[in-house]
Amino acid sequence: MSSSYLSIENIGKTFGRNGHATEVLRDVNLRVQKGEFISIIGHSGCGKSTVLNIVAGLLPASKGGVILDRQEVNAPGPDRAVVFQNHSLLPWLTVYENVALAVKKTFGASKSKTEQKEWIMDHLRLVNMLHAVDKLPAEISGGMKQRVGIARALAMRPKVLLMDEPFGALDALTRAHLQDEVMRIQNELQNTVIMNNT
Ligand SMILES: Nc1ncnc2c1ncn2[C@@H]1O[C@H](COP(=O)(O)OP(=O)(O)OP(=O)(O)O)[C@@H](O)[C@H]1O
Ligand SMILES: [Mg+2]
Repeated sequence: MSSSYLSIENIGKTFGRNGHATEVLRDVNLRVQKGEFISIIGHSGCGKSTVLNIVAGLLPASKGGVILDRQEVNAPGPDRAVVFQNHSLLPWLTVYENVALAVKKTFGASKSKTEQKEWIMDHLRLVNMLHAVDKLPAEISGGMKQRVGIARALAMRPKVLLMDEPFGALDALTRAHLQDEVMRIQNELQNTVIMNNT
């Protein structure tokens, strides 16, 4: 039907509870080409996170559907990595181990131990976190935790990287800096990104 890499087709979403129905999204359409960086903006409560969660497969659409690389997506999958505002690193694992876990899950069968190690270090270098590979999440700053979350998501080489206000919890300076970094990385990897920011 369409030649887009990612296609959001006539999405509608209605939340219902105790007979009350709230229509949050109606006829939302978006076509994204491979390598595009899309930013969704809008006032609080307009439905940005809902769109992202439907694309991630974390929430079912009430109407319409999402097609990624010619396949309809209905459930979460490794082809769509999500970075949330509140980092979701495992607190008992080091920076290196957090990324390693995701890499092992994705490439355990196709990359050797040595290749995996190089891959992990490459991605930690990309986000400028090589200095803290052996630190625990509790020992690094919020901005650094987001960097590691981004490295982990990118290391899985998802078809689409979904970011829901990834820098929302950071101060303005750090946020501006990380936004630049993400643009630089996206330019280098040419990956497809959808980001919510307010
Ligand atoms: N699980 C739910 N049940 C009922 N209503 C919901 C649910 N999740 C979201 N909503 C409603 O849907 C609307 C859109 O929410 P959403 O979180 O997508 O907004 P948003 O644009 O991401 O806002 P923000 O910028 O504040 O993050 C809101 O009015 C919200 O109250
Ligand atoms: Mg939101």
